[in-house]
Amino acid sequence: MSKGKGAQVQIKQIGEMLDDGLILVQPDGTIIAANTPAVRHFGEDLVGNSIFDVIKHPDIKDLLAEAVAGKTNLELKYEPSEIVQREFRLRLKRLADGPVALLILDMTLQRNLEKVRRDFVANVSHELRSPLTSLAGFVETILSGEVSDSEMLTRFLKIMDEEAKRMSRLVDDLLSLSRVEVEEHIVPDKTVQLFELLHSVKDSLAVQANQKNMKIIVRQDGCLNGLTPPLIFGNHDEITEVFVNLLENAVKYGFDNSEIILAIYNYGQGTVKIDVINEGEGVEEKHLPRLTERFYRVDKARSRKIGGTGLGLAIVKHIINRHRGQLTITSTLGKTTKFSVDFPLVPGS
Ligand SMILES: Nc1ncnc2c1ncn2[C@@H]1O[C@H](COP(=O)(O)OP(=O)(O)O)[C@@H](O)[C@H]1O
Ligand SMILES: [Mg+2]
Repeated sequence: MSKGKGAQVQIKQIGEMLDDGLILVQPDGTIIAANTPAVRHFGEDLVGNSIFDVIKHPDIKDLLAEAVAGKTNLELKYEPSEIVQREFRLRLKRLADGPVALLILDMTLQRNLEKVRRDFVANVSHELRSPLTSLAGFVETILSGEVSDSEMLTRFLKIMDEEAKRMSRLVDDLLSLSRVEVEEHIVPDKTVQLFELLHSVKDSLAVQANQKNMKIIVRQDGCLNGLTPPLIFGNHDEITEVFVNLLENAVKYGFDNSEIILAIYNYGQGTVKIDVINEGEGVEEKHLPRLTERFYRVDKARSRKIGGTGLGLAIVKHIINRHRGQLTITSTLGKTTKFSVDFPLVPGS
């Protein structure tokens, strides 16, 4: 084997250790080697083809010529025009007098994360700004001395009280969300007894339900063995938060004078399932997959009016993930909406 060939084999072997794509091309653009990540990005049959048919960027020809001429620090941002948007950064360098190496860094994930972060900051600012603007407006009006009658003053103060509470709910939910996001990868090691927990959540929502003349019914007859209460590995406060959020939604978005069912099933496969079912207008199918996104609300104005922050289900989703559970949402318009939660049971419980 010639010295040059040996070097090429070594480069190929190094290529297989990389997470980034690596392609070797001859000075005329013919591809002579591509590692697995490069194949994943750009398809199977790279070797033998021209790089200009693979990377369809107006500057790639010039850049390759510059690399062949020995120029360094050559970089290119490449966004293939495809349905799924991806972004790559390409780095070119000639290896001694041999082929040109193209390193392909996949920037898609990083770009998406940045977008998520930017959107999140924009959403939070927007959500905080509206109650704040309203509060500031009322304070200004009261300070100007224009409000003479005390009935009006009381009315203003009540609105201000509502707005302040809205901001505080939002901040609470944001803190909850950031805490559960950070802890998502840690599986809890304490155990939680679900019957007790569900009954106490039901009791804590009784007043809210009463106001709409709704009834919350707990059903635990779906459990195979009514004697041993289902135990799961979990954090008591977090599991409580899940069902408080789901029941609160059921009350908020359910019809007056209707029933809410909280049913627990233990179907003997090491899993326990809890359904929260309410009668109400329901959710159109197209919205279902997005309900657990932060700030996603089917009817923003309505959710705001009844005190929602749009973060409840995002928190629910993260807590369920942490507990290695699953959330399924189904809805029949004008009839019922069902949130099903599955948790793995503590073995033997
Ligand atoms: N039981 C339900 N019935 C109908 N729609 C619901 C129900 N639960 C949640 N939703 C929809 O999902 C959205 C997101 O819920 P959530 O994250 O709890 O935010 P919030 O309740 O603060 O608006 C709600 O705005 C509502 O549109
Ligand atoms: Mg909610």
